Amino acid sequence: MTDHDIRVLDDSQYRTAHTLFRGTLHHTPAPDDQWKFVQESYYPGRAIGAFADGEMVGTVQSFPSQLAVPGGAVVPHAAVSRVGVRADWTRRGVLSALQRAQLRALRSAGDVAATLRASETAIYGRYGYGVATRHRFVRIDRRQAAPRTRPVGRVRLVEGEAGERIAHGLFEELSPVRAGTISRWPAWWGLSIRRVAAEENIKIAVRSGASGDDDGYVVFKVVPGEHGSGDHKPTTLMVMDLWARDAEAWADLWLFVLGVDLVAEVAAYGRPVDEPVQWLLGDRRACRIAEEVDETWLRLLDVPAALSARTYRHAEPVVLGVRDAYLPENSGSYRVSADGVTRVDEAPELVLDVDVLASTYLGDVSFSTLAATRRLDVVDPTALVRADALFEVSEPPWSGTYF
Ligand SMILES: CC(C)(COP(=O)(O)OP(=O)(O)OC[C@H]1O[C@@H](n2cnc3c(N)ncnc32)[C@H](O)[C@@H]1OP(=O)(O)O)[C@@H](O)C(=O)NCCC(=O)NCCS
Repeated sequence: MTDHDIRVLDDSQYRTAHTLFRGTLHHTPAPDDQWKFVQESYYPGRAIGAFADGEMVGTVQSFPSQLAVPGGAVVPHAAVSRVGVRADWTRRGVLSALQRAQLRALRSAGDVAATLRASETAIYGRYGYGVATRHRFVRIDRRQAAPRTRPVGRVRLVEGEAGERIAHGLFEELSPVRAGTISRWPAWWGLSIRRVAAEENIKIAVRSGASGDDDGYVVFKVVPGEHGSGDHKPTTLMVMDLWARDAEAWADLWLFVLGVDLVAEVAAYGRPVDEPVQWLLGDRRACRIAEEVDETWLRLLDVPAALSARTYRHAEPVVLGVRDAYLPENSGSYRVSADGVTRVDEAPELVLDVDVLASTYLGDVSFSTLAATRRLDVVDPTALVRADALFEVSEPPWSGTYF
């Protein structure tokens, strides 16, 4: 018997849920002009509330999406967000009840995986989420940078909704492709680009090459500081979203932002850990990695479907024993080989919780590393080499979409 109950919300309850969520982040309720963008991002059946004494005291939500996995397949995916429990109801099991309901509902609806961005790292491991991708915050001293090369194509500024339309179209072509990338739900563009553009000085630049086709874009804004030599508050160009079809387009877009006048610093948050921007510069020390932190927290909702969706390198098979307290049907032994994955009735060689499996799944961290840090049980030490080889990927996974 609990003192609260869990219900799927209907559209008359979305604003209350959103106000409650914002309150847990210590923000005031969204004003009407913001709400009109937010409202579109509540999808039927995907918002859940916890109620006590007739009032909503907690909420979680998800957006419909897809996730690219190693090998190029794409699986149904829920982007989980707007998680909050009212301050006078925390640490009484409300989030645990919401998570239990949400994980079950998402799996029943056919989502193979869920991902989220965690406000605090202590929250989600217990529900089976593991850190599966990392991203970087880079800062470049523009005057010191002195790029080694010049653009080879054309980068042009495209104002207003025309710019958003081109960016949206290119994004749809470019993601989900790399493992960890996701598709964006339609309301993402309104909320993350159009709404922000209305309030801030957002610009979109589009690149085209010899063929004349658009092949990349960058969304950015310039935050004016003090011009001149006293750079206590440098004028900063913030790269918010940058996607390119190939290396040539990628380099031209970076060269474009590095060439904008009266800017002291170019800053980019949420970039891939293998992005070689420092190699474009005459002085690579102009580029500082200000932060490299967890990006995607991944929850494998349907472990057999997820394991079967990705490909594996050539190596001898390994038998993994998976434990999942919240979705116990995932618990069991899986034989993973280069030819595929089967559920087996065999003793496992490595035993791990489902959050640890999630961390290995996209290939960002090896089984050996997790064994060395005592995150999994090693029954047969030779299995680590096999598991590492099977799950290895050629480029680090990355999502690139903030939600
Ligand atoms: C994070 C939050 C939703 C947790 O809700 P809650 O109802 O207090 O969580 P529960 O009571 O179900 O907690 C379950 C367990 O997680 C632990 N836990 C939950 N939130 C935690 C936190 N922020 N830090 C450390 N431990 C936490 C609890 O101590 C509890 O542990 P136990 O089972 O060993 O006793 C709530 O604190 C909140 O709204 N925080 C502010 C908003 C926020 O950060 N939202 C997340 C956005 S990604």
